[in-house]
Amino acid sequence: MTKPQTYFVKTFGCQMNVYDSERMSELLTAEGMRAVDNSDDADLVVLNTCHIREKAAEKVYSDIGRLKASKRPSGVKPMVAVAGCVAQAEGEEIVRRAPAVDVVVGPQAYHRLPEMLAQAAEARAVDTDMPLESKFAVLPRRAKQSGPSAFLTVQEGCDKFCTFCVVPYTRGAEVSRPAEDVIAEARMLVEGGARELTLLGQNVNAFNGSGVGFAQLIREIAAIEGLARLRYTTSHPRDMDDDLIAVHAEVPELMPYLHLPVQSGSSRILKRMNRAHTAESYLATIEKLRAARPDIALSGDFIVGFPGETEADFEDTLSIVRAVGYAQAYSFKYSSRPGTPAAGMDGHLDEEVKSERLARLQALIVEQAFAFNRATVGRRVEVLMERQGKKPGQLIGKSPYLQSVHVMAPGLAIGDLVEVELLSAGPNSLEGALIQKAAA
Ligand code: 5AD
Ligand code: SF4
Repeated sequence: MTKPQTYFVKTFGCQMNVYDSERMSELLTAEGMRAVDNSDDADLVVLNTCHIREKAAEKVYSDIGRLKASKRPSGVKPMVAVAGCVAQAEGEEIVRRAPAVDVVVGPQAYHRLPEMLAQAAEARAVDTDMPLESKFAVLPRRAKQSGPSAFLTVQEGCDKFCTFCVVPYTRGAEVSRPAEDVIAEARMLVEGGARELTLLGQNVNAFNGSGVGFAQLIREIAAIEGLARLRYTTSHPRDMDDDLIAVHAEVPELMPYLHLPVQSGSSRILKRMNRAHTAESYLATIEKLRAARPDIALSGDFIVGFPGETEADFEDTLSIVRAVGYAQAYSFKYSSRPGTPAAGMDGHLDEEVKSERLARLQALIVEQAFAFNRATVGRRVEVLMERQGKKPGQLIGKSPYLQSVHVMAPGLAIGDLVEVELLSAGPNSLEGALIQKAAA
């Protein structure tokens, strides 16, 4: 097999995968390959996969089949590399079900992708090791260019072992990068044009990088000259300590928006989920956050139909959603994952019950998101312009509350941070009018 000249990385799942895909792209570009815009034109397709729910995992196999049946104009079949969490969890099964796959590489081993591709010219290469030495120590320095908003992985893995979740098995134990490495990468991204950084981790607020805690990391990154906005995701309610809550009051660069998954409003189900918090303790944390930062907007994740969930438990979930009033929320039907404790529990629910509960929860969430957007109409907010809109002269940016705002702004460019008056709201986005160009 000849060395691929072009590549395409397809990303499934969470923002950590988005970050990993960027790093893999940097590696492939450094090898002299050229990025193309779609899988049909690429000599090499990297599928950066997600294992969190069954549906996400199954998509991978249909993609592999389709790609391996396709041909490039030269008559050559594309190389396919499976990366990410399906590769980690199902390495052997991939090889069995899809023998044509060239490379299988787990999330902790992708720094080896170039050498594995070279190896794959002879025979399929598989690496799902979780080496003690972090890939971050081996990856080349971050490419110095970025858009206005960039992701930065600071922590990976999870020690919480929620009974439904594969992450502790696919991403391994909680590991933080050294704070000085993270700060250096943040500087690099800001010098390369980022105005906003989102610090990423499966349990980002459990960060402890060579003695520096997460609150302190935020203070230090926020102080970087030229950085206008800072966000972080995903957090576990148990790790929202008082120092971190205080940072929300203290650091103006930290945006008033927090994704804080609760999963269920029933403390009985939370116990079965091994979440190490109750509905009451979660609400108490929200109260403290609101005392620190009264305008903070909240987002969450919910699972409906966990084994043993009764109608009363589900109604507790609806109640907690009403009590919090989310700006956004993500909800999922429980999906039984092989090897997790919940898979072996009693009381698995029928698909119809799960679907019906999901529909009720999603109706409430959509209503709340729309209400949140409507409540911001008439306000002046700063918007960071991120991309072109459909209409000529229109830009789309993000408010501090992570709302998408459409603005007619012919003189402006992507990356500008401007003051906008919010004029009208839809369920997913708002229209705004430019007030003035904020001092940079
Ligand atoms: N089934 C359904 N949803 C799940 N999540 C994690 N594991 C499962 C599962 N087995 C959801 C949780 C988590 C989000 C990333 O995905 O809500 O916060
Ligand atoms: Fe999964 Fe729970 Fe860890 Fe989040 S905290 S990654 S849901 S085990």
